[in-house]
Amino acid sequence: MKKTFGFIIGSLRKKSFNRAVANYMASVVPADIDVKFIEIGDLPFYNEDLDAATPPAWQRLREEVKSVDALLFFTPEYNRTIPAALKNALDVGSRPYGQSAWGGKPGGIVSVSPGAIGGFGANHHLRQALTFLNVYTMQQPEAYIGNITASLDAEGKVVNEDTQNFLQSYIVAFVDWSKKF
Ligand code: FNR
Repeated sequence: MKKTFGFIIGSLRKKSFNRAVANYMASVVPADIDVKFIEIGDLPFYNEDLDAATPPAWQRLREEVKSVDALLFFTPEYNRTIPAALKNALDVGSRPYGQSAWGGKPGGIVSVSPGAIGGFGANHHLRQALTFLNVYTMQQPEAYIGNITASLDAEGKVVNEDTQNFLQSYIVAFVDWSKKF
């Protein structure tokens, strides 16, 4: 049976480097896997008061997260942690209390940065939250994609062969990981 991977991108900007990497990875998943991009840019900030009349965007996110078989996160690093938009999505998906959409799914983290250390801080802060949310996050291989601009062409496509090979090997490992659950 076909499986679906949910791709969640922590950047909201159109020409996001994280989205460029996610697009490349979506193009190399095996044929028996569908990719669903789960968008987070329209989610109102989490506020427990709003759970009395759930915003439609919150409902959509929760349903989409529940519907996928595995979750692959692509995160920029903002001030050595994850962007607020991504944290908000984690919070929205985790509520109402006792009804978290995240729990029990296999997950993976790819951090992408133009900087040299590849979003290490964001990668591990995200890992910390996913541990609490009971996402079974793949431990190895890790994916810190630094100096990303050197791997992209003028249109923002991943063209560097070494980066392509690494991302392909990550997907192979992640498919294997997702099958364990
Ligand atoms: C950044 N950036 C950044 N980069 C990094 O490697 N470590 C960091 O701590 C930060 N901090 C940071 C804070 C804020 C508020 C912004 C806007 C940016 C740079 C960041 O990596 C760069 O903007 C990337 O292009 C963001 O990823 P996307 O949007 O291209 O996917």
